[in-house]
Amino acid sequence: MRIVVTGGAGYIGAHVVLALRRDGHDVAVIDDLSTGTPDRLTDDTPLFVCSVLDTERVAENLRAHGCELVVHVAAKKAVEQSVAEPLMYYRENVIGMHSVLSAMAQAGVGKILFSSSAAVYGAPTGDLVDEQAVTAPASPYGWTKLMCEQMIRDVAAATALDWVALRYFNVAGAADPALADRGENNLIPRVFRAICSGVPPQIFGDEYPTRDGTCIRDYIHVADVADAHAAAVRGMSSGAPSAIYNIGTGSGTSVLEVMHTARRITGRDFDWDVRPPRAGDSPAVVADAAKIRAGLGWQSRHDLDDIVGSAWQSWSSRSEIPVAR
Ligand SMILES: NC(=O)c1ccc[n+]([C@@H]2O[C@H](COP(=O)([O-])OP(=O)(O)OC[C@H]3O[C@@H](n4cnc5c(N)ncnc54)[C@H](O)[C@@H]3O)[C@@H](O)[C@H]2O)c1
Repeated sequence: MRIVVTGGAGYIGAHVVLALRRDGHDVAVIDDLSTGTPDRLTDDTPLFVCSVLDTERVAENLRAHGCELVVHVAAKKAVEQSVAEPLMYYRENVIGMHSVLSAMAQAGVGKILFSSSAAVYGAPTGDLVDEQAVTAPASPYGWTKLMCEQMIRDVAAATALDWVALRYFNVAGAADPALADRGENNLIPRVFRAICSGVPPQIFGDEYPTRDGTCIRDYIHVADVADAHAAAVRGMSSGAPSAIYNIGTGSGTSVLEVMHTARRITGRDFDWDVRPPRAGDSPAVVADAAKIRAGLGWQSRHDLDDIVGSAWQSWSSRSEIPVAR
Protein backbone atom coordinates (compact mmCIF):
# COMPACT_ATOMS: atom_id res chain seq x y z
CA MET A 1 0.00 0.00 0.00
CA ARG A 2 1.15 3.61 -0.63
CA ILE A 3 1.34 5.24 2.79
CA VAL A 4 2.28 8.69 4.12
CA VAL A 5 3.46 8.89 7.74
CA THR A 6 3.23 12.37 9.24
CA GLY A 7 5.85 12.87 11.95
CA GLY A 8 7.90 10.04 10.43
CA ALA A 9 11.19 11.72 11.31
CA GLY A 10 10.34 11.55 15.02
CA TYR A 11 10.99 8.83 17.59
CA ILE A 12 7.87 6.70 17.15
CA GLY A 13 7.20 7.73 13.54
CA ALA A 14 10.62 6.51 12.36
CA HIS A 15 10.00 3.12 13.99
CA VAL A 16 6.59 3.00 12.27
CA VAL A 17 8.17 3.80 8.89
CA LEU A 18 10.64 0.95 9.42
CA ALA A 19 7.92 -1.56 10.35
CA LEU A 20 5.71 -0.58 7.38
CA ARG A 21 8.60 -0.78 4.92
CA ARG A 22 9.46 -4.22 6.29
CA ASP A 23 5.89 -5.24 5.44
CA GLY A 24 6.49 -4.13 1.84
CA HIS A 25 4.61 -0.82 1.89
CA ASP A 26 5.72 2.19 -0.13
CA VAL A 27 6.17 4.85 2.57
CA ALA A 28 6.75 8.62 2.37
CA VAL A 29 7.05 11.05 5.27
CA ILE A 30 5.65 14.51 5.96
CA ASP A 31 7.49 16.22 8.81
CA ASP A 32 8.29 19.83 9.72
CA LEU A 33 11.44 18.65 11.56
CA SER A 34 10.42 20.65 14.65
CA THR A 35 11.49 17.76 16.90
CA GLY A 36 12.27 15.12 14.28
CA THR A 37 15.50 14.65 12.34
CA PRO A 38 15.96 13.35 8.77
CA ASP A 39 18.84 11.10 9.89
CA ARG A 40 16.22 8.74 11.34
CA LEU A 41 15.13 7.95 7.76
CA THR A 42 16.90 5.95 5.08
CA ASP A 43 18.03 7.94 2.01
CA ASP A 44 15.42 6.27 -0.19
CA THR A 45 12.45 7.33 2.02
CA PRO A 46 10.78 10.37 0.39
CA LEU A 47 10.60 13.21 2.95
CA PHE A 48 8.29 16.19 2.37
CA VAL A 49 9.37 18.91 4.78
CA CYS A 50 6.25 20.84 5.63
CA SER A 51 3.90 21.43 8.53
CA VAL A 52 0.70 19.41 8.72
CA LEU A 53 -0.95 22.80 9.28
CA ASP A 54 -0.28 23.67 5.63
CA THR A 55 -3.33 21.91 4.15
CA GLU A 56 -2.58 22.73 0.51
CA ARG A 57 0.96 21.39 0.67
CA VAL A 58 -0.09 18.29 2.59
CA ALA A 59 -2.75 17.58 -0.08
CA GLU A 60 -0.14 18.15 -2.82
CA ASN A 61 2.27 15.73 -1.14
CA LEU A 62 -0.42 13.09 -0.63
CA ARG A 63 -1.24 13.31 -4.35
CA ALA A 64 2.45 13.26 -5.32
CA HIS A 65 2.92 9.99 -3.42
CA GLY A 66 -0.34 8.45 -4.69
CA CYS A 67 -1.23 8.02 -1.02
CA GLU A 68 -3.91 5.48 -0.05
CA LEU A 69 -3.53 5.66 3.75
CA VAL A 70 -2.22 8.31 6.16
CA VAL A 71 -0.58 7.37 9.45
CA HIS A 72 -0.93 10.60 11.44
CA VAL A 73 1.81 10.54 14.08
CA ALA A 74 2.90 14.22 14.02
CA ALA A 75 2.01 16.11 17.19
CA LYS A 76 3.39 17.88 20.22
CA LYS A 77 3.54 15.45 23.13
CA ALA A 78 4.84 16.98 26.36
CA VAL A 79 2.10 16.99 28.99
CA GLU A 80 3.66 19.70 31.18
CA GLN A 81 4.35 21.95 28.18
CA SER A 82 0.70 21.56 27.13
CA VAL A 83 -0.36 22.98 30.50
CA ALA A 84 1.92 26.01 30.00
CA GLU A 85 1.16 26.50 26.28
CA PRO A 86 -2.33 25.12 25.64
CA LEU A 87 -2.99 27.22 22.54
CA MET A 88 0.11 25.86 20.86
CA TYR A 89 -1.07 22.30 21.63
CA TYR A 90 -4.59 22.91 20.32
CA ARG A 91 -3.14 24.47 17.16
CA GLU A 92 -0.56 21.78 16.41
CA ASN A 93 -2.59 18.76 17.46
CA VAL A 94 -6.26 19.65 16.89
CA ILE A 95 -6.00 22.15 14.02
CA GLY A 96 -3.24 19.88 12.69
CA MET A 97 -5.72 16.98 12.61
CA HIS A 98 -8.34 19.20 10.93
CA SER A 99 -5.78 20.12 8.30
CA VAL A 100 -4.72 16.50 7.68
CA LEU A 101 -8.34 15.33 7.32
CA SER A 102 -9.08 18.27 4.97
CA ALA A 103 -6.02 17.49 2.87
CA MET A 104 -7.03 13.81 2.74
CA ALA A 105 -10.49 14.82 1.52
CA GLN A 106 -8.92 17.04 -1.18
CA ALA A 107 -6.55 14.28 -2.28
CA GLY A 108 -9.17 11.52 -2.11
CA VAL A 109 -7.44 9.49 0.64
CA GLY A 110 -9.94 7.36 2.56
CA LYS A 111 -7.93 5.69 5.38
CA ILE A 112 -6.28 7.11 8.50
CA LEU A 113 -4.37 5.50 11.35
CA PHE A 114 -4.01 7.92 14.26
CA SER A 115 -1.49 8.10 17.15
CA SER A 116 -3.63 8.63 20.22
CA SER A 117 -2.58 8.26 23.83
CA ALA A 118 -3.49 6.75 27.19
CA ALA A 119 -3.62 10.41 28.29
CA VAL A 120 -7.26 10.40 27.11
CA TYR A 121 -8.12 8.33 30.21
CA GLY A 122 -6.74 10.87 32.70
CA ALA A 123 -6.55 9.18 36.10
CA PRO A 124 -8.38 5.89 35.61
CA THR A 125 -9.60 3.75 38.48
CA GLY A 126 -9.36 -0.04 38.47
CA ASP A 127 -6.51 -2.42 37.71
CA LEU A 128 -6.62 -2.46 33.92
CA VAL A 129 -7.95 0.22 31.57
CA ASP A 130 -9.90 -1.02 28.56
CA GLU A 131 -11.10 1.05 25.61
CA GLN A 132 -14.56 1.43 27.18
CA ALA A 133 -13.14 3.18 30.27
CA VAL A 134 -14.29 6.72 30.94
CA THR A 135 -12.21 9.31 29.11
CA ALA A 136 -11.35 12.26 31.35
CA PRO A 137 -8.08 13.84 30.21
CA ALA A 138 -6.05 15.54 32.95
CA SER A 139 -4.12 17.87 30.61
CA PRO A 140 -4.60 19.94 27.47
CA TYR A 141 -2.42 17.34 25.72
CA GLY A 142 -4.87 14.57 26.64
CA TRP A 143 -7.79 16.71 25.49
CA THR A 144 -6.14 17.34 22.11
CA LYS A 145 -5.89 13.58 21.55
CA LEU A 146 -9.50 12.98 22.57
CA MET A 147 -10.70 15.83 20.32
CA CYS A 148 -8.77 14.35 17.40
CA GLU A 149 -10.43 10.96 17.98
CA GLN A 150 -13.83 12.66 18.01
CA MET A 151 -13.05 14.62 14.84
CA ILE A 152 -12.14 11.39 13.05
CA ARG A 153 -15.37 9.68 14.19
CA ASP A 154 -17.47 12.65 13.05
CA VAL A 155 -15.81 12.78 9.64
CA ALA A 156 -16.18 8.99 9.30
CA ALA A 157 -19.89 9.26 10.10
CA ALA A 158 -20.31 11.73 7.26
CA THR A 159 -18.01 10.10 4.69
CA ALA A 160 -16.58 6.70 3.84
CA LEU A 161 -13.43 7.28 5.95
CA ASP A 162 -11.85 4.11 7.41
CA TRP A 163 -9.92 4.73 10.60
CA VAL A 164 -8.04 3.23 13.50
CA ALA A 165 -6.85 5.10 16.60
CA LEU A 166 -4.08 3.54 18.67
CA ARG A 167 -3.89 4.71 22.29
CA TYR A 168 -0.25 4.22 23.24
CA PHE A 169 0.69 3.76 26.88
CA ASN A 170 4.29 4.57 28.01
CA VAL A 171 6.47 4.16 24.94
CA ALA A 172 10.19 3.56 25.55
CA GLY A 173 13.27 1.75 24.23
CA ALA A 174 14.64 1.76 20.69
CA ALA A 175 14.92 -0.76 17.86
CA ASP A 176 18.18 0.88 16.83
CA PRO A 177 20.26 3.54 18.64
CA ALA A 178 19.84 5.87 15.62
CA LEU A 179 16.06 5.92 16.11
CA ALA A 180 16.07 6.55 19.87
CA ASP A 181 13.98 9.10 21.74
CA ARG A 182 16.18 12.16 22.18
CA GLY A 183 13.74 13.95 24.47
CA GLU A 184 14.02 13.73 28.23
CA ASN A 185 10.44 14.03 29.38
CA ASN A 186 9.98 10.38 30.25
CA LEU A 187 11.15 8.41 33.27
CA ILE A 188 13.79 6.18 31.65
CA PRO A 189 15.76 8.95 29.87
CA ARG A 190 15.44 11.11 33.02
CA VAL A 191 17.03 8.33 35.07
CA PHE A 192 19.90 7.94 32.59
CA ARG A 193 20.51 11.68 32.52
CA ALA A 194 20.64 11.80 36.32
CA ILE A 195 22.97 8.85 36.77
CA CYS A 196 25.30 10.05 34.00
CA SER A 197 25.48 13.45 35.73
CA GLY A 198 26.22 11.79 39.07
CA VAL A 199 23.01 13.03 40.76
CA PRO A 200 20.31 10.75 42.17
CA PRO A 201 17.25 10.50 39.91
CA GLN A 202 14.11 11.97 41.42
CA ILE A 203 11.02 9.89 42.01
CA PHE A 204 7.73 11.58 42.83
CA GLY A 205 5.82 10.04 45.72
CA ASP A 206 6.35 6.70 47.47
CA GLU A 207 3.11 6.45 49.42
CA TYR A 208 0.68 5.61 46.64
CA PRO A 209 -1.67 2.67 47.24
CA THR A 210 0.49 0.39 45.06
CA ARG A 211 2.66 -2.67 45.85
CA ASP A 212 5.75 -0.58 46.71
CA GLY A 213 4.19 2.87 47.11
CA THR A 214 5.40 4.27 43.76
CA CYS A 215 3.38 4.88 40.61
CA ILE A 216 2.75 2.00 38.24
CA ARG A 217 2.78 2.41 34.47
CA ASP A 218 2.59 0.17 31.42
CA TYR A 219 5.94 0.51 29.55
CA ILE A 220 5.72 -0.65 25.95
CA HIS A 221 8.72 -1.11 23.63
CA VAL A 222 8.60 1.24 20.65
CA ALA A 223 9.30 -1.70 18.29
CA ASP A 224 6.10 -3.34 19.58
CA VAL A 225 4.23 -0.05 19.04
CA ALA A 226 5.52 0.05 15.46
CA ASP A 227 4.44 -3.56 14.88
CA ALA A 228 0.95 -2.65 16.12
CA HIS A 229 0.77 -0.10 13.27
CA ALA A 230 1.76 -2.77 10.77
CA ALA A 231 -0.97 -5.04 12.19
CA ALA A 232 -3.51 -2.20 11.98
CA VAL A 233 -2.61 -1.52 8.33
CA ARG A 234 -3.01 -5.23 7.54
CA GLY A 235 -6.42 -5.11 9.26
CA MET A 236 -7.46 -1.97 7.35
CA SER A 237 -6.41 -3.56 4.04
CA SER A 238 -8.54 -6.61 4.73
CA GLY A 239 -11.68 -4.78 5.80
CA ALA A 240 -11.38 -4.87 9.62
CA PRO A 241 -13.82 -2.39 11.18
CA SER A 242 -12.76 1.08 12.30
CA ALA A 243 -11.83 0.99 15.98
CA ILE A 244 -9.85 2.31 18.91
CA TYR A 245 -7.20 0.02 20.42
CA ASN A 246 -5.00 0.26 23.50
CA ILE A 247 -1.30 -0.36 22.83
CA GLY A 248 0.26 -1.68 26.02
CA THR A 249 1.62 -4.88 27.52
CA GLY A 250 -1.19 -5.40 30.04
CA SER A 251 1.37 -5.52 32.81
CA GLY A 252 2.39 -2.70 35.14
CA THR A 253 5.85 -1.71 36.38
CA SER A 254 6.43 0.54 39.36
CA VAL A 255 8.90 3.43 39.40
CA LEU A 256 11.04 1.51 41.94
CA GLU A 257 11.05 -1.54 39.66
CA VAL A 258 12.33 0.68 36.84
CA MET A 259 15.08 1.96 39.21
CA HIS A 260 16.19 -1.58 40.13
CA THR A 261 16.16 -2.65 36.48
CA ALA A 262 18.18 0.44 35.49
CA ARG A 263 20.71 -0.33 38.24
CA ARG A 264 21.15 -3.89 37.08
CA ILE A 265 21.34 -3.07 33.37
CA THR A 266 23.60 -0.01 33.59
CA GLY A 267 25.81 -1.56 36.28
CA ARG A 268 25.66 1.80 38.15
CA ASP A 269 25.05 1.68 41.87
CA PHE A 270 22.90 4.80 42.22
CA ASP A 271 20.34 5.86 44.78
CA TRP A 272 17.20 7.95 44.20
CA ASP A 273 15.72 11.02 45.73
CA VAL A 274 12.08 10.75 46.84
CA ARG A 275 10.18 14.02 46.19
CA PRO A 276 6.56 14.89 46.99
CA PRO A 277 3.96 13.44 44.61
CA ARG A 278 3.17 15.53 41.51
CA ALA A 279 -0.32 16.89 41.01
CA GLY A 280 -2.33 14.81 38.55
CA ASP A 281 -0.21 11.63 38.69
CA SER A 282 -2.46 8.61 39.08
CA PRO A 283 -1.29 5.64 41.14
CA ALA A 284 -1.58 3.10 38.31
CA VAL A 285 -2.31 3.24 34.57
CA VAL A 286 -2.06 -0.16 32.90
CA ALA A 287 -3.61 -1.20 29.58
CA ASP A 288 -6.06 -3.97 29.02
CA ALA A 289 -4.71 -4.97 25.61
CA ALA A 290 -7.15 -7.82 24.94
CA LYS A 291 -9.08 -6.00 22.21
CA ILE A 292 -6.17 -5.61 19.78
CA ARG A 293 -5.02 -9.16 20.46
CA ALA A 294 -8.46 -10.47 19.51
CA GLY A 295 -9.13 -7.97 16.70
CA LEU A 296 -5.76 -7.68 14.96
CA GLY A 297 -3.69 -10.53 16.40
CA TRP A 298 -1.10 -8.15 17.89
CA GLN A 299 0.55 -8.45 21.28
CA SER A 300 3.74 -7.06 22.76
CA ARG A 301 6.88 -9.20 22.55
CA HIS A 302 9.43 -7.17 24.52
CA ASP A 303 9.85 -6.98 28.30
CA LEU A 304 11.21 -4.28 30.62
CA ASP A 305 14.79 -5.56 30.29
CA ASP A 306 14.58 -5.14 26.50
CA ILE A 307 13.17 -1.65 26.94
CA VAL A 308 15.72 -0.41 29.49
CA GLY A 309 18.58 -2.28 27.78
CA SER A 310 17.89 -0.82 24.33
CA ALA A 311 17.32 2.66 25.76
CA TRP A 312 20.61 2.46 27.66
CA GLN A 313 22.48 1.26 24.58
CA SER A 314 21.14 4.26 22.65
CA TRP A 315 21.81 6.67 25.47
CA SER A 316 25.38 5.57 26.10
CA SER A 317 26.19 5.61 22.37
CA ARG A 318 25.34 9.32 22.13
CA SER A 319 28.78 10.86 21.95
CA GLU A 320 27.69 14.24 23.32
CA ILE A 321 26.55 12.68 26.60
CA PRO A 322 29.37 12.30 29.13
CA VAL A 323 28.94 8.79 30.54
CA ALA A 324 30.23 8.79 34.10
CA ARG A 325 32.06 5.59 35.05
N1 LIG B 1 6.29 9.03 23.30
C1 LIG B 1 5.25 8.55 23.98
O1 LIG B 1 5.39 7.92 25.06
C2 LIG B 1 3.85 8.74 23.42
C3 LIG B 1 2.76 8.20 24.15
C4 LIG B 1 1.48 8.35 23.63
C5 LIG B 1 1.28 8.99 22.42
N2 LIG B 1 2.34 9.51 21.74
C6 LIG B 1 2.10 10.19 20.46
O2 LIG B 1 2.94 9.62 19.48
C7 LIG B 1 3.26 10.59 18.51
C8 LIG B 1 4.74 10.62 18.27
O3 LIG B 1 5.42 10.94 19.46
P1 LIG B 1 7.01 10.86 19.54
O4 LIG B 1 7.32 10.39 20.91
O5 LIG B 1 7.56 10.13 18.39
O6 LIG B 1 7.35 12.42 19.42
P2 LIG B 1 8.45 13.16 18.52
O7 LIG B 1 8.45 14.58 18.98
O8 LIG B 1 9.74 12.39 18.50
O9 LIG B 1 7.80 13.05 17.07
C9 LIG B 1 6.84 13.95 16.56
C10 LIG B 1 7.19 14.19 15.10
O10 LIG B 1 6.20 15.03 14.52
C11 LIG B 1 6.84 16.13 13.86
N3 LIG B 1 5.91 17.26 13.93
C12 LIG B 1 5.47 17.90 15.05
N4 LIG B 1 4.61 18.89 14.71
C13 LIG B 1 4.49 18.84 13.34
C14 LIG B 1 3.76 19.60 12.39
N5 LIG B 1 2.96 20.63 12.75
N6 LIG B 1 3.87 19.27 11.09
C15 LIG B 1 4.67 18.24 10.69
N7 LIG B 1 5.41 17.51 11.54
C16 LIG B 1 5.30 17.81 12.85
C17 LIG B 1 8.12 16.35 14.61
O11 LIG B 1 9.12 17.03 13.87
C18 LIG B 1 8.53 14.91 14.93
O12 LIG B 1 9.26 14.35 13.86
C19 LIG B 1 2.63 11.90 18.97
O13 LIG B 1 1.38 12.03 18.33
C20 LIG B 1 2.44 11.66 20.45
O14 LIG B 1 1.39 12.45 20.95
C21 LIG B 1 3.61 9.41 22.22
